[in-house]
Amino acid sequence: MINLILLGLPGAGKGTVSERIVDKYSLAHISTGDMFREAMANKTPVGLEAKSYIDKGNLVPDEVTAKLVEERLSQSDTNNGFILDGFPRTTAQAEMLEDITKRLKKPLTNVIALDVDEGVLVDRLSARFMCKSCGATYNKFSKKPKVEGTCDRCGSHEFYQREDDKPEVVKNRLQVNEKMNAPLRDFYQQKGILSVVNGEQSPEKVFEDTDAILSKN
Ligand code: AP5
Repeated sequence: MINLILLGLPGAGKGTVSERIVDKYSLAHISTGDMFREAMANKTPVGLEAKSYIDKGNLVPDEVTAKLVEERLSQSDTNNGFILDGFPRTTAQAEMLEDITKRLKKPLTNVIALDVDEGVLVDRLSARFMCKSCGATYNKFSKKPKVEGTCDRCGSHEFYQREDDKPEVVKNRLQVNEKMNAPLRDFYQQKGILSVVNGEQSPEKVFEDTDAILSKN
């Protein structure tokens, strides 16, 4: 059983490595960022509230985020394992997650932190673009579509840059998340379930190192 948290600053590659882990281990992928973007697109009450934080690069309040995660973790497709991508981001959220996993009897098995230098993150985020139709993630330098202008996954020709990947927002996002990063890692270090992977390697090597950790479960 794998119940995994992926920790990492914005742009560290959590979404990228998640895709490969899901392919190999068939885990439920729970990205709080994706959930908020979907809620914003559907203009739900949570989406409207989240938008005011996300567009500025701030964190959505802990209670709102934890409630969303608890609802998602209550669904049966998480019974055979899950990846939490982007949650928790604060020690308060980590403590809330402890309660949630106890209540649902779905204990964490691994926490993997992707380590990437801030300069690399800024470059990656400013080069990231997304498919408008299916949300697939690309990068001007490291992950271009196989056929220029056509999404590999769904064949769409329309792409966009996330609002929060614009330079003025990226700076605040990184600052906000950096403040929380060290205490969060300490939290899981003390629990003895933290592993660290060098996220500056190629996506293939990042997956290989992550897989080496998970395959010991
Ligand atoms: P979210 O969508 O989770 O954003 P994030 O954490 O900022 O993470 P990203 O999606 O930007 O990056 P990633 O690590 O997944 O990198 P990716 O694989 O795409 O959250 C958005 C917002 O929602 C937050 O700012 C916050 O407001 C709110 N929110 C979400 N969760 C919350 C929570 N728990 N509490 C409160 N608020 C919350 O890769 C990035 C780029 O680099 C891509 O172009 C990719 O192709 C490329 N790349 C990836 N890996 C490599 C590699 N190894 N080498 C070269 N390029 C690479």
